[in-house]
Amino acid sequence: MSGLIKAIRGFSDVPPEEAWKYNYIEELAREHFQKYGYREVRLPVVEATELFARGIGTATDIVEKEMYTFLDRNGQSLTLRPEGTASAVRAYLEGGWKSWGGIAKIFYTGPMFRYERPQKGRYRQFYQMGLEAIGAGHPEVDGEVVALLHRLFLRLGVEDITILINSLGCPVCRPSYRSELVGFLQDLAEELCSNCRKRIEKNPLRILDCKVPTCRENLSDVPVMIDHLCGECSHHFERVRYCLDGLDVPYAIDPKIVRGLDYYNRTAFEAICGRLGSQNAVAAGGRYDGLAREIGGDVPGIGFAMGIERLRLVMEWKGLHIPLPEFYVASATENARLTAMTIADKLRSMGSRVETDLETRSLKAQLRSANRMNIRTVVIVGDDEIAKGTVICKDFSNNTQQEIPLDELFSKTAAVNRR
Ligand code: HAM
Repeated sequence: MSGLIKAIRGFSDVPPEEAWKYNYIEELAREHFQKYGYREVRLPVVEATELFARGIGTATDIVEKEMYTFLDRNGQSLTLRPEGTASAVRAYLEGGWKSWGGIAKIFYTGPMFRYERPQKGRYRQFYQMGLEAIGAGHPEVDGEVVALLHRLFLRLGVEDITILINSLGCPVCRPSYRSELVGFLQDLAEELCSNCRKRIEKNPLRILDCKVPTCRENLSDVPVMIDHLCGECSHHFERVRYCLDGLDVPYAIDPKIVRGLDYYNRTAFEAICGRLGSQNAVAAGGRYDGLAREIGGDVPGIGFAMGIERLRLVMEWKGLHIPLPEFYVASATENARLTAMTIADKLRSMGSRVETDLETRSLKAQLRSANRMNIRTVVIVGDDEIAKGTVICKDFSNNTQQEIPLDELFSKTAAVNRR
């Protein structure tokens, strides 16, 4: 016999006891996004490599070393998407979504792929739910997008997440800041880690979020972008904060947020949860007014993406429990088996989650199954009950049982499910 083939490193199965959590988060977020006028789109998982190289930036870690790139049978270079924003902007431009009028508000969900070193909260295939507002450069959009994210955390019941914001300036003010930063870093080069030293010329901004303790110490008084904003960027940042204050969104300014994708300008933000350790960003995003120009268009935009695995971890700590089936319908006799199936069928049509026996087992075995599945209410039906039009309801939580008319079971369930 040949050996068992296993999933590849960084790619994992999501078994039923986990998958429902992804669905739960996604369904709640979907409904929440729709309240703000966002509509769902489905984007390809594979794109031309050029889209990410130009969109995300060739000097980023993602493009330099984390993409799953391959040649198709025609020799075209393709890449498994490492994120969704570049595709969303491409789809906007290609599909002429400008014609919708106003801001194109869209969201998407699905797997992303990055060849990173796997660890807790970091995988090579992971799930993101992302949202983009394409078509407006106004700070009010930034304010609403960040507020929407904060309100979603409240709805998910995860209040202990901190939203950090920063401004990354624009092509007017960033070049002079960049040269000041490079000068500062060059003087400090000997003290920095080898990774940071390599980045001084290529991507100096990324050095600001280096996690190596000695680098952090050495960079305590590094010049930061928000002290070098031009008039327009400064005004934009002020307006964003004005909106967030007015909408009562708690946030902190973190001048060292720089983001790992090159397309950002002005507002950048991250939602972090300290308990997650080094991979602490649950969601992150920002404004990308220059991205469309890199891929053949010209339109401003802002958005964010949430990491579903990380959000799931945070929610688990909060005590997220799988919704159990509410009923187990058991048959006491062979004759009652079909009746049990029809009762289960009707309860399901009323919106309840119901288990029943499909393996012709004894009543005792069925009760054991219900107990093992932690189902509270078992509905038992036998020949006598069929004759009387009743069922026996056994409540495992207090070990009581009661015979009630079948109609009463349905009317009570309807009343509970209406609530
Ligand atoms: P990002 O910061 O690269 O931004 O990813 C967003 C979120 O995806 C992260 O905060 C994290 O929760 C999750 N994530 C990223 N990489 C991994 C990984 N390897 N394993 C597990 N989770 C991960 C973007 O992707 C931008 N497209 C966000 C955006 C949308 N900006 C504007 N619009």
